[in-house]
Amino acid sequence: MRYALLIFMLFNHCFTFSMENTHNTYKGVPITPQSLLELAPQTPEDLLEQVGQCMEKHHNFISSLVTTPHPLTHRARKQKTTDNFALIAQYEEKNIAKNHSLFNYVLRFNEHPTFSMPINRWGSRVAYWIYASDQGNVLNGNLNDNFDCSLIEYIPSYQHCSRLAHYLRVKEVAEKKNFQVLRPTPTYITHIPGKANELSDENYVVVQEWINDFQEIKNLPERERITIKGNMSVDIIKELYEATVYAALWDIASNLGVDKHSCYLHIADLEEPFNHKPQFFYFQGEEGKKKYVEDVIAGLERMARFFLEDQEQFNIWKKLSEEDIDFNSLCNHYDIHINYDPEYLRTKD
Ligand SMILES: Nc1ncnc2c1ncn2[C@@H]1O[C@H](COP(=O)(O)OP(=O)(O)OP(=O)(O)O)[C@@H](O)[C@H]1O
Ligand SMILES: [Mg+2]
Repeated sequence: MRYALLIFMLFNHCFTFSMENTHNTYKGVPITPQSLLELAPQTPEDLLEQVGQCMEKHHNFISSLVTTPHPLTHRARKQKTTDNFALIAQYEEKNIAKNHSLFNYVLRFNEHPTFSMPINRWGSRVAYWIYASDQGNVLNGNLNDNFDCSLIEYIPSYQHCSRLAHYLRVKEVAEKKNFQVLRPTPTYITHIPGKANELSDENYVVVQEWINDFQEIKNLPERERITIKGNMSVDIIKELYEATVYAALWDIASNLGVDKHSCYLHIADLEEPFNHKPQFFYFQGEEGKKKYVEDVIAGLERMARFFLEDQEQFNIWKKLSEEDIDFNSLCNHYDIHINYDPEYLRTKD
């Protein structure tokens, strides 16, 4: 009996230990707003020079896009949306930079084509704050005037900064498991001169190496898309599976891409969904851990839908999920489960 109790305690300890320490660390250190800046990889010299020149020349532009107007009234928040789009439009008209995103501001400067600077869109930053302050449903993108702006205006946000946290996780699993095909796109962080030093989307921007001729698989002609999926070996599918779980890549399916110069698969868009709460960044505490499980499930289901066109590949994906004891334990713990019913997957957003 005593042994049974000991074994139970040991098992419980190991289980709790693995649950607490495997989903949100880099090099064994928990990723937090404080640690992320220290854990960030050093920007290579040549890129650093380019980013420095860009920051110097376009400081006002970059700074304006990320700066919250105070006091934050509803009028000011709406004006900010208009102003940011007008600013970007001006830059595009003058051929200084291009926004590559339909939703965010993923900027590429013409004079500095080696990197992108993804900045979180102002409207989704507000939605993230409303959610963080428990004032509304973040999934309703139509912001109205029913929330109290004064409660949100000084909350930090980690939307574009989250790209770096997820990058560290993909990088770590790619190294640990010796990935051959999935290549995390090198991502760095840079401080905006004149801003405060603590991590937030208002003080820092991330920069990412530009992949020439990157194309998302979802946008390829049908035949090409089906061929790429059909040609994926079990080992490649395993890399995709491991990256999705390790780095909570909730949106990998629609952002997975190829380029015509290499045999790599790329994922450049590593942003967390905006229904996160900054107080749990990066998946800290019980609520953060539960969110991690939800995000991974979203990623796994979207990837399952990605493979639906090819039954054999879909079955490999499903089997990998079923055999994943650690992740299934977490699902059971939170009583939230993966649903691979094809009908459900087809109708899901
Ligand atoms: N590092 C990169 N190298 C090459 N292309 C990139 C890179 N980063 C972004 N892009 C291009 O810009 C597009 C938008 O970037 P990203 O997916 O990161 O932002 P997003 O806000 O999710 O945009 P969208 O909502 O349009 O998908 C990508 O689909 C890709 O075509
Ligand atoms: Mg994207």
